[in-house]
Amino acid sequence: VLRFAERTKGARRSAIRELLKYTEQPEVISFAGGLPDPATFPLDFLAKVAQEEILHNAVKSLQYTTTEGKRPLREALVRWLAEEGIHTTMDRIVITNGSQQGLDLLGRAFLDEGDAVFVSLPTYLGALQAFQAYRPTIVGIPLENDGMDLAFLRRAIREARRSGHEPKLIYVVPDFQNPTGITWSKEKRAELLKIAGKEDLLIVEDIPYRWLRYKGEHIPTIASLDEEGRVIVLLTFSKILAAGLRVGALVGPEEVVNMVVTLKQGADLCGPSLTQRLVVRFLTEYDVHAHIARLCQHYKVKLETMLQALSQYMPEEAEWTKPEGGLFVWVKLPEGVDTAKMLERALAHKVAYVPGQPFFADGSGQNTMRLSFALATKEELKEGIRRLGAVVKEEIAALSVIRGS
Ligand SMILES: Cc1ncc(COP(=O)(O)O)c(C=O)c1O
Repeated sequence: VLRFAERTKGARRSAIRELLKYTEQPEVISFAGGLPDPATFPLDFLAKVAQEEILHNAVKSLQYTTTEGKRPLREALVRWLAEEGIHTTMDRIVITNGSQQGLDLLGRAFLDEGDAVFVSLPTYLGALQAFQAYRPTIVGIPLENDGMDLAFLRRAIREARRSGHEPKLIYVVPDFQNPTGITWSKEKRAELLKIAGKEDLLIVEDIPYRWLRYKGEHIPTIASLDEEGRVIVLLTFSKILAAGLRVGALVGPEEVVNMVVTLKQGADLCGPSLTQRLVVRFLTEYDVHAHIARLCQHYKVKLETMLQALSQYMPEEAEWTKPEGGLFVWVKLPEGVDTAKMLERALAHKVAYVPGQPFFADGSGQNTMRLSFALATKEELKEGIRRLGAVVKEEIAALSVIRGS
């Protein structure tokens, strides 16, 4: 008999990763993945610097490195973050294996069983998975078009305290959120900081999509508005360089970073030296701004094509977000439609998406779905949304028959 630990009881495989098996058939047009487009990876540059690092810099690129990560990388990140109004120092940065490891280490550092973590409804599924391992009480806060419902958050914090769940973290993805594409207004960012100050809580600001803005104005990071050291930033090179390098960073108050470094020693000793070296060279030798401008142009066309196709092919009962960046559009169908069930019909029509429910900490959201426009071509975007529109119409019609309306 295998006697797994108690904390594994709630562990679930990502519904999305399981689903990808079915969506990989060649005829299926898939909006299901959350992956960046590999056509955006700077292959020649990476190949050149990887060869140089291995042949001429092996002690630095193939030996263990420090747990906190390569010094030149942390130095480059200090400069890079200053452009986002985040003024930090090298000793307040720890390099992580993607931002996903940052989420896990924060769970390990802060969450005792039953502690309250506040997330939006919906939120990034990987954050739910990372936190759930530490058995906290995850409290879902409705997400509006400009950020969380903050009056609801205030009440939820008080309610958690009253019922013996110590509030610890507020987790947010304020720029082009996964899964909805929603971006927080500046007002709500400032207001969230006030709440965190008053309630003595930490904010985890996860910003993987921040650099993928295709239109509209930049909104300051929450961290740049923070004067009290309440914000922990998670960033990653997954969406702006290459996801398989697994290089991200956690940036925060010194005590938090020190604790995370201690815990990371137990997790992996250190991150991969080679890919950290590649990112150092990317930040110091490549024209990063031009690269990001190209990425934005690449994805902008795809987003516009998807939005245009949605207005052409979706029935009027459907609603969707109109993001200004990121990789996702979020669709809401009438109450009663179950997008998990509808997926079978969609696969029969050779189109795939991610059902929205797993992104909801409270189990709601049956009638929602996430569409990624990152991987499909323009033609596939149009054809895929045409198919999806037909699927949704059929599903709504079937539902009306059952209801006798
Ligand atoms: C909001 C958010 N946070 C974190 C991650 C994890 O990314 P990585 O571990 O590749 O940095 C993702 C990936 O999709 C994400 O969407």
